[in-house]
Amino acid sequence: MRLLGRDLAMDLGAASTRIYVKRKGIVLDEPSAVMCDGRTGKIIAYGAEAAAVGVGGRTCWPVRGGLPADAELARRMVRHFLRKVHWHPYARPRLVMALPGDSTPIDRAALHDVAYEAEARTVRLVPHALAAALGAGLPVTDCAGHMVIDIGRDTARIAVLSGESVVAASSVPYGGQAVNRAVIRLVEREHGLLLDESEAESAKRRAHDGAREVVVRGRDRDTGRERELAVPAGQIFEAAGPPAESIARAAMETVERCPAELAADLGERGVMLVGGGALLRGLGRRLREALCMPVRRAERPLECVALGLGRCVDELGLIGRFRSGRA
Ligand SMILES: Nc1ncnc2c1ncn2[C@@H]1O[C@H](COP(=O)(O)OP(=O)(O)OP(=O)(O)O)[C@@H](O)[C@H]1O
Ligand SMILES: [Mg+2]
Repeated sequence: MRLLGRDLAMDLGAASTRIYVKRKGIVLDEPSAVMCDGRTGKIIAYGAEAAAVGVGGRTCWPVRGGLPADAELARRMVRHFLRKVHWHPYARPRLVMALPGDSTPIDRAALHDVAYEAEARTVRLVPHALAAALGAGLPVTDCAGHMVIDIGRDTARIAVLSGESVVAASSVPYGGQAVNRAVIRLVEREHGLLLDESEAESAKRRAHDGAREVVVRGRDRDTGRERELAVPAGQIFEAAGPPAESIARAAMETVERCPAELAADLGERGVMLVGGGALLRGLGRRLREALCMPVRRAERPLECVALGLGRCVDELGLIGRFRSGRA
């Protein structure tokens, strides 16, 4: 069986790609980044190396919304990652991937293409929301309603699940990147300091509970000189307000599309937050207040989708029950 290839699960995220090997767990977690030579356009690095700041070349992020945005770069990146975890001249792994809720047949075909070009033997697609719920440990076979909100890099995906299927789902273009942009705008408006995206990302992560202020480095808007500034952590929390409100509004609309008895379940069971955006300080509290429902964060929010897909790899029978697509 080793010669035919192992069974793998891959969460192809806009920020990170995570690969799970059957019965072993997550063995790869790298930025979904490719670095191309600025002059020749040739790929010179993948993953963590490509995302590192200060290395020459142009960094590209070929995945958006769980789908390949630049098909050629995404294919080559996936092939690189799969070979990194599992390489044998004849081996062709069976692969399980997540299918975003609003995907079209063209999107499905794009995911299949990426996987086959990366030497997969078969590809099975599991609805993204079910993978996230499984990975968060929710009892997906239960007929009662559960809501999962996955806040990734560029998208927040909202889904209501009941009895192994997705009853209602929606997505909004507000993830961690939208928060970074809001932080950049706020620091410029309040302090006249221009931050780059990586500095905003780092400030956001450092503004955890207990931190009173966060030191950032940027360029003064008027003088053009570099300077440091201590930003009150509360201002970063404030910047995250509008994206959080948009996610809460979309979640309310999703609940309104559910049958009344499921909506009542949700009021009791509440929301499970997954994805890296769920780590943002104060987000849970904001959503709890806006939705008037209990809101919990999964134990390993960044890894939920990969762990859920991994459970499907460990118990392949689960996939059939989720009415997934098979190539
Ligand atoms: N400690 C943290 N605090 C706040 N935000 C964080 C933290 N860690 C990660 N993030 C945010 O999480 C986002 C990445 O989350 P995740 O890895 O779930 O995305 P992804 O699955 O790659 O993307 P997508 O699901 O949109 O395709 C980034 O935008 C990052 O800013
Ligand atoms: Mg994700």
